[in-house]
Amino acid sequence: MFRKSISARLALMFTVATVSMALAYAVCLRVTLQESLEKQMHNELQFRYSLVEPMIVSRASAYDWQLLKAKFVNLSTSEGGRVQYWIISDDPFYHLGGPVPQAVNLRALEDGFSKVDLPDAKKCPLFLMTSTLPASGNRPALRYVVAIDSTPYMGTLEEFTRVLLFITFFGVIMVALLGYWISRAGMKPIKALSAQSHQLVPGKQKQRLCIDSLPEELHALAEAFNGVLVRQEKAWEQLESFNADVAHELKTPLTNLIGQTQLALSRDRSVEQLQNMLGSNLEELERMSSIINDMLFLSHAQTGKFAAQMAQVSLRNESQKAAEYLEPSLTERHLSVRINGDATAYVDRRLFTRSLANLLSNGSRYAREGSTIDINIVQSERFISVSVLNEGAEIESYHLERLFERFYRVDGSRTQSSSNHGLGLSIVKAIAQVHGGDVFVNSRDGVNTFGFTLAVAEKR
Ligand SMILES: Nc1ncnc2c1ncn2[C@@H]1O[C@H](COP(=O)(O)OP(=O)(O)O)[C@@H](O)[C@H]1O
Ligand SMILES: [Mg+2]
Repeated sequence: MFRKSISARLALMFTVATVSMALAYAVCLRVTLQESLEKQMHNELQFRYSLVEPMIVSRASAYDWQLLKAKFVNLSTSEGGRVQYWIISDDPFYHLGGPVPQAVNLRALEDGFSKVDLPDAKKCPLFLMTSTLPASGNRPALRYVVAIDSTPYMGTLEEFTRVLLFITFFGVIMVALLGYWISRAGMKPIKALSAQSHQLVPGKQKQRLCIDSLPEELHALAEAFNGVLVRQEKAWEQLESFNADVAHELKTPLTNLIGQTQLALSRDRSVEQLQNMLGSNLEELERMSSIINDMLFLSHAQTGKFAAQMAQVSLRNESQKAAEYLEPSLTERHLSVRINGDATAYVDRRLFTRSLANLLSNGSRYAREGSTIDINIVQSERFISVSVLNEGAEIESYHLERLFERFYRVDGSRTQSSSNHGLGLSIVKAIAQVHGGDVFVNSRDGVNTFGFTLAVAEKR
């Protein structure tokens, strides 16, 4: 229960704090009261002692002593035996006072205050004051003892302790209950927050937690949550448009396939015509297959499913290979490739080549005919950046921000060759992210730069 409920936990903490404080108070109060009661008893003893002592000192003759004896009996009985007086001496004639309790050994007492516990557990201890009076006249040296029964004092102390325990006990119960109630009341905003969260529905737009209705302490949490909602909304939008885009991309080749096949079937065709049709169908099928492969690739990259075969490679060498791979399209447009710089990086060779080939293939398509495409490899402390620069028409900044989105193309035309369906740059981005990097693009002074970074890492 205490693990699961914050209110119960807080109530428990309140209770523990109160119990410790109340006990500390109770002990302090009791000790103080006990000390003050003992002081009072000492005062009383002192008072009794000084009341009788002059009488003893002044009586020296045997006759006087007889009178004193009678006085002593009076004194001891006058307060119901609560205060007792004894005199002992070596001469039994000078013994005065009633019977002495067994536990008290008058001879062994030291001068001054003392306390003797009685064997009967129900009886309170005796407080005594003892003094030795020197011999005077015929009278020998005497020990004079006054004793007080501490029952009334101890009774006060016991009663006080009982009340104290009672107050502590009920105080603690009150605090536990109040603590629980207070913390539950304090938790209300959290309940309100979770009630609000419960109403969130996946896919519904513009859903936000209402921050104004929450106490200050929860603002940061609610803001963070709203941030998640914004990102989730974006991801949802992307997913939705992605679905629409996928459908759209696949629809064109499929419509073409169906149309051509229906046409071919509508009447008898020569073998040559059928071969043409199959050739054209194959193109559409390849286009579809390429889209699907790219999508699978992307989805694997995004879920981190690549069994990365990381190795330490020279990026210059790998770039060289990618350029060779694209040789045909480069020569077709009389383009040359220049590789600047080098860096050794810990990368998945296949992914790196794929990424660079995507950039180069775009470059070869959009570069000014007969120009040179530059591949710049720059190593900095934390990143290696690889960029492909080609001369070409400036790209508007509005497009620049979106080029790395899936299926996004500047011309928007979806009827390009079998390999250009707008997934190339999003694959570059996914590969960069797999390697702890990101992508960048700029278009200025007639040069378009597309590139990606790779995190410089120890062997991952
Ligand atoms: N080097 C470049 N110069 C100009 N525009 C480019 C360049 N590279 C990419 N683009 C633009 O970015 C879009 C997306 O590129 P990409 O994702 O590779 O898709 P695709 O190559 O299939 O069109 C391209 O359609 C093009 O409009
Ligand atoms: Mg491309």
